[in-house]
Amino acid sequence: MTLSLMRFSSSRKNGTGRLLQATQRQLVTKVHNRTETANVAHQSGQAIAAQHIDMVYRTGNQSQTVLKDISLNIGSGTIQLLMGPSGSGKTTLLSILGGILSPTQGTVSLLGTDITSLSKRQLAKFRLNNIGFIFQGFNLFDALTAVENIVVALKMKGVRPRAARQEALYWLDQVGLADKAHHLPKNLSGGQKQRVAIARALAGNPPLIMADEPTAALDSHSGHVVIEMLCNLAKQNDRTVLMVTHDPRIQSVADQVTYLEDGQLQSPEASSTDELHLPQPQPWPRSA
Ligand SMILES: Nc1ncnc2c1ncn2[C@@H]1O[C@H](COP(=O)(O)OP(=O)(O)O)[C@@H](O)[C@H]1O
Ligand SMILES: [Mg+2]
Repeated sequence: MTLSLMRFSSSRKNGTGRLLQATQRQLVTKVHNRTETANVAHQSGQAIAAQHIDMVYRTGNQSQTVLKDISLNIGSGTIQLLMGPSGSGKTTLLSILGGILSPTQGTVSLLGTDITSLSKRQLAKFRLNNIGFIFQGFNLFDALTAVENIVVALKMKGVRPRAARQEALYWLDQVGLADKAHHLPKNLSGGQKQRVAIARALAGNPPLIMADEPTAALDSHSGHVVIEMLCNLAKQNDRTVLMVTHDPRIQSVADQVTYLEDGQLQSPEASSTDELHLPQPQPWPRSA
């Protein structure tokens, strides 16, 4: 992580670049300090562990079992895809693994902490410090510029305004949007908005990144660019990524693919792409 922050471009000539360079050393130290706890968990090699997860949605007097006895382990620093047909329970599982939903049964351990035993307040704090979320619809504040969207997220994590702004600019530069820092979302393309959302998810250095169909609202080329960017930055910074996707081409950048069908995990042998009626994986197109 520190190494990749140090890789910050030294060739920048504009004012923003100089400001970022001047604060780079300070930022590296601060980010490092904030992640000490997470690094201890990283040493155990396991980022996400779920045991016997069941999820039943109740609406009125109707109930629907959406997840059935899900157990999985995800290693630290890996890129994991969660795939499966629409309605198979992917968003529900991601929400449970991300501490947004409580399972009806079972336990979830993130970075060595059993999040299913935390109070609401403890869980909210844990999520804030340890998980960066990326959503299909970007979820940016329309009235805030790109940099302000990231600053707000960092301030919620307790970062002081000046440092938050410096770090926000750093991450915007990392996703290639330094020149769009002061643009409102309405003046950005879909791919650019998702790059802001990626910068926001990475800012504050959460060890876990969770993304629910991050390319669904993008055209194919923009989708590949943002996923490649997310995966490269995650790898460089030793983050664990869990991403729901329908796009079989993304499989080529993943360390592991988990298939969900009708609320149950499919064993690797039983879950060929043919059985799920998915197209065969295509080679990853390099972005220009
Ligand atoms: N909040 C909810 N209340 C009731 N049923 C829900 C809720 N969210 C999802 N479901 C149902 O759970 C099933 C799985 O949904 P979801 O996890 O969104 O699947 P996926 O992301 O794979 O499309 C669907 O049948 C959906 O209608
Ligand atoms: Mg979904």
